[in-house]
Amino acid sequence: MITCEALPRESGEPSGPHVIQPGLRRSAKQSEALANELARSRCLTTASDLALDEARQLASNADIHGRIALSCDQKDRALAKIVNTSAPVGAWSRFLDGRLRIPVIGSPLFLVSNPALVIAQCTAGIVGSFPALNARPASQLDEWLHEIREALAAHDARHPDRPAAPLAVNQIVHRSNGRLEQDLQICERHKVPIVITSLGARPELNQAVHDWGGVTLHDIINQTFARKAIEKGADGLIAVAAGAGGHAGSISPFALMAEIREWFDGPVALSGAIATGRGVRAAELMGADVAYIGSAFIATQEANAGQRYKQMIVDSAADDIVNSDVFTGVHGNYLAPSIVAAGMDPAKLGDVEAVKMDFGAGRDEARDKKAWRDIWGSGQGIGSVKEIVPAAELVERLAREYAEACGAAPRLGLRVGDAFATGRAA
Ligand SMILES: Cc1cc2nc3c(=O)[nH]c(=O)nc-3n(C[C@H](O)[C@H](O)[C@H](O)COP(=O)(O)O)c2cc1C
Repeated sequence: MITCEALPRESGEPSGPHVIQPGLRRSAKQSEALANELARSRCLTTASDLALDEARQLASNADIHGRIALSCDQKDRALAKIVNTSAPVGAWSRFLDGRLRIPVIGSPLFLVSNPALVIAQCTAGIVGSFPALNARPASQLDEWLHEIREALAAHDARHPDRPAAPLAVNQIVHRSNGRLEQDLQICERHKVPIVITSLGARPELNQAVHDWGGVTLHDIINQTFARKAIEKGADGLIAVAAGAGGHAGSISPFALMAEIREWFDGPVALSGAIATGRGVRAAELMGADVAYIGSAFIATQEANAGQRYKQMIVDSAADDIVNSDVFTGVHGNYLAPSIVAAGMDPAKLGDVEAVKMDFGAGRDEARDKKAWRDIWGSGQGIGSVKEIVPAAELVERLAREYAEACGAAPRLGLRVGDAFATGRAA
């Protein structure tokens, strides 16, 4: 008999550890009840606690809190799925249920995301987010979270029929970010429901977020980082594919998503050049739960970006995006016209001395200014951005296009499949 570690419970729930017996043959009903109990009581099991059979039995009967399914053959991985899809994924579904107009997260944008944008995103029905480091000095983070929570609560009181989508805060988990611990404590005080982690996966951070009832999504650019993130306790992944704004990946979204779904059934957001409702639908068809959209929100009235930056997003398209690592030390996508305006030739960036990534006090403000304030980040999807609009209007467009895409028949029509299925192909 083994004892599961009991994590903090919802108020009113009985306390004390839960006891389960490994290897015990359970009926489907008993197994479902146990899976329910594990999820409800937020029990975690360790890899050695359950036999694969038991894991399979639990998983196959536990499609209660979202997506618990088993498709892998390794004991540890099977268990990792259960650990990662019990309580936290239940929380993820609960946060989003009835609160999303379309399956979209407005992604965190360094310098650009601010409370006004986040409030506009959440009240329009998509998850709004911002990097904690945008609040400067650090004490401002508490004020921002107060402001956002109050605005969302006021919205909910006015519109109980369409409550605001949840908020997410992005933490840069890079060793140079000296604010991380303090920022996390502030997020804990506000019980931030979703924490997005970038540039480093840490088990203790995931645990801290779970302890206050939140979920973590970690952004990754390949399978190695993806597996590491889940092993270290992240609840879900943000697949950053080729063409994304900021520190983009280089893998096609088709390949990235297909490979992730071979081993992971938890929450996945897909990012990279998505700026239309059809793109959001395509992300779903590729296996993502939500689309993760950044650059399109730079050209909104609420965004903290200069008019020239916003207009450049409107005026530019994929051909104007340059991929380089010279500005921050990591490969990212940038607007070529902003590189020209800063006095550099986008075709000769090889001559520019590369900088080292730094999110702390050692940050070179002069270089930093160049990298983010003068050299403007953007993904390849901005050809679809035709005007600067309020964020709610952008969400409205995405929702309209998404509905159309959901109802659209395949472009070739159904006769192709029909003919083959019935052997009537000419
Ligand atoms: C200007 C800019 C700043 C960004 N800053 C951050 C950041 O601070 N943290 C982060 O996790 N991602 C950041 N990103 C990446 C986005 O969150 C997201 O992955 C990306 O924008 C999605 O691709 P898209 O721009 O093509 O929609 C940034 C992207 C851009 C364009």
